[in-house]
Amino acid sequence: MDIESKISSRLKNQEEYVFFGVAEAKKKALAEGKDIIDLGGGNPDLAPHHKIVEALKKAADNPENHRHPIYEGLLELRQAVASWMKRRFEFDLNPETEVLILIGSKEGIAHVSWAFIDPGDTALVPDPAYPPYKRGVMLAGGKPVLMPLLKENHWLPDFEKIKKEDLSKTKLLFLNYPNNPTGALADKGFLQRAVNFAKENEIIICQDMAYSEVTFDNNRSESILTINGAKENCLEFFSFSKTYGMTGWRLGFVVGNGKLIDALRQVEVNVNSGAFHVLQRAATVALSLEDKDIDEVRQTYQMRRDVLVAGLKELGWEVDNPRGSIFVWAKIPHKLDSGKMANMLIEKAGIVTTPGKGLGPSGEGYLRFSLIVDKERLTEAVERMKSLYL
Ligand SMILES: Cc1ncc(COP(=O)(O)O)c(C=O)c1O
Repeated sequence: MDIESKISSRLKNQEEYVFFGVAEAKKKALAEGKDIIDLGGGNPDLAPHHKIVEALKKAADNPENHRHPIYEGLLELRQAVASWMKRRFEFDLNPETEVLILIGSKEGIAHVSWAFIDPGDTALVPDPAYPPYKRGVMLAGGKPVLMPLLKENHWLPDFEKIKKEDLSKTKLLFLNYPNNPTGALADKGFLQRAVNFAKENEIIICQDMAYSEVTFDNNRSESILTINGAKENCLEFFSFSKTYGMTGWRLGFVVGNGKLIDALRQVEVNVNSGAFHVLQRAATVALSLEDKDIDEVRQTYQMRRDVLVAGLKELGWEVDNPRGSIFVWAKIPHKLDSGKMANMLIEKAGIVTTPGKGLGPSGEGYLRFSLIVDKERLTEAVERMKSLYL
């Protein structure tokens, strides 16, 4: 049988999930026994707080928690989400209708297009960006329209530049602040502009707050839901992966307009069966942690950021201090191709990074470094780069 001819056009239309040979180069370097410093993925190394792990163990001892999960998530956790949102952003949410628990925020972000996008519809997607926005739209048969994020615009999209003809079929606008990969934050002024623009053009906003608590220099992220009128057309996605180091658990949540939440819930009940209750019980404890516990996480990433940014600057790289996220977005000297540069760093220095163009065409000319190893390893990475005269 010619299996190729059976593959859906939905899948065929996806360009391959390529990172320009980086995965192969890494595999080869590991096979050669090289000491690899992996700054490639968004995979935090910090362990979850001991109170979270204790709650996990306790919940695992209760057989009730091993039964089929409740689709939309335990009410206990949805109530904890609503209380956390209130404490953090002074914003009221109905836990019954305006909160949905996800099997990781990636899953919800990818599925949200299934709830709203018909073949031929378009969605506005930042460039560079976390790939699932664009890929989710494409899997649903829609067309992503890229919004370049440029340094001169503080890495915010310029809504004025979006062509009128691209707007007539646009249903979704994806935003992500604190931003992966640029480390930018969005202030209330920008979020208000985004809400106004989306309302004028009857577009739903999906704001990704995966890094909501990982911000530096006393900056705090703003929730788009605190903007006047935002609850009419906004969804906001949160993750337990980055702030709480619960990456492998696969747990997140989405909050916002009840009708939008319900549309996503209808997709969810068809494709998965809810998150494991043991994890949800422990996540309730995570949301009750004190601010000082999260401060430790922020400080750790900030110290790592300071080491890497100072090191890259010493090497002559053009790099700004990220204000949030776990990434440093650095301009490659001498306009070298980002794929070639990433491969060269693996081969010659054993350092894995993400080539900017893998995150979108506007990412060309940049490398993304993840702050997922300790200060000593980051210092070692800079030393290795120094020996290459980069
Ligand atoms: C911007 C952004 N959003 C969402 C996610 C997914 O997080 P989760 O682990 O909750 O699926 C990531 C993970 O890398 C991310 O970088």
